[in-house]
Amino acid sequence: MSKPRIAVLTSGGDAPGMNAAVRAVVRTAIVNGAEAVAVHHGFEGLLDGDFSPMQLGSVGGVLDRGGTFIGTSRSERMFSEEGLGLAVERLAQHRVTGLVVIGGDGSYRAAEELDMRGVKVIGIPGTIDNDIAATDTTIGFDTAQNTICDATSKVRDTASSHERTFIIEVMGRHCGMLALYSGLAAGADCILVPEIPWALEDICESIRQGVERGKKHSIIVMAEGAGHAFGVAEDLTGMCGHKVRAVVLGHIQRGGAPSAFDRTLGSRMGAAAVDALLAGESGKAVCLKNADMELATLAECYSHHHEMKQHIYDLAMVLAR
Ligand code: F6P
Repeated sequence: MSKPRIAVLTSGGDAPGMNAAVRAVVRTAIVNGAEAVAVHHGFEGLLDGDFSPMQLGSVGGVLDRGGTFIGTSRSERMFSEEGLGLAVERLAQHRVTGLVVIGGDGSYRAAEELDMRGVKVIGIPGTIDNDIAATDTTIGFDTAQNTICDATSKVRDTASSHERTFIIEVMGRHCGMLALYSGLAAGADCILVPEIPWALEDICESIRQGVERGKKHSIIVMAEGAGHAFGVAEDLTGMCGHKVRAVVLGHIQRGGAPSAFDRTLGSRMGAAAVDALLAGESGKAVCLKNADMELATLAECYSHHHEMKQHIYDLAMVLAR
């Protein structure tokens, strides 16, 4: 009987810890008697037939590297009937019996389409956004928070030296989780997220109260989905009567060596995805729930985003005083 053949790809925005997950998929598959194959450049590579067989040594030296060494893409073609048909064909040509898709909610939609066409597929949540409600956290979120904290500390040096307010814009697309948790960890005076309405007057008032209490600086952490940092900085400068500067961290947040947490999470999720495929599961994603690995349907993963954690927001605001 031929061996199971497990393919792995990374899709969407890269996230630190994806390499740990790829490594775990490859090594767990091989150790369990399966073959392992990497698909390069995400779903685009899948459609182009960009596959390469992996050995135990193929994933050496990748654990501590940021990005994804097998490449990624955001594929429009996977959302067409033609693209999906071609993807199924490519997987059959390469004798793939199970596919692991590491990515965010968009990648899960494509993965589910493949599942509906008979491909055995398991997802792994890899995105710095941590916007998938079915899992407590996603690969890359922890490292991105650390990067934001580090950047905020540096900005705070300048903010307090010049007695200024700074707005730090962070990623997260439509979800405020990254801004919320990094805002708490970085000691932000104000956190702006898309899920909670905010007004310039309130921000200005909180800055004013801070100055009255003797604060030398104010740090506002703002999610990209909550507005544009440069515009808000300009408006606040006019209202508050002192200089407000903006820093957009951008893709710095996606890069860099993964934290120990993300390496561990990627390793556990990669192994759990292979176990699930070998046990005959499909159409599901590996999730972290109360420190354990569980499976949730792909539909559950892409259709429910984390709700705003109001208690974390309230805590951050209390501690900012
Ligand atoms: O989904 C991850 C993410 O980094 C979002 O936080 C951000 O909005 C988006 O990707 C940026 O995508 P791109 O790198 O394609 O511009």
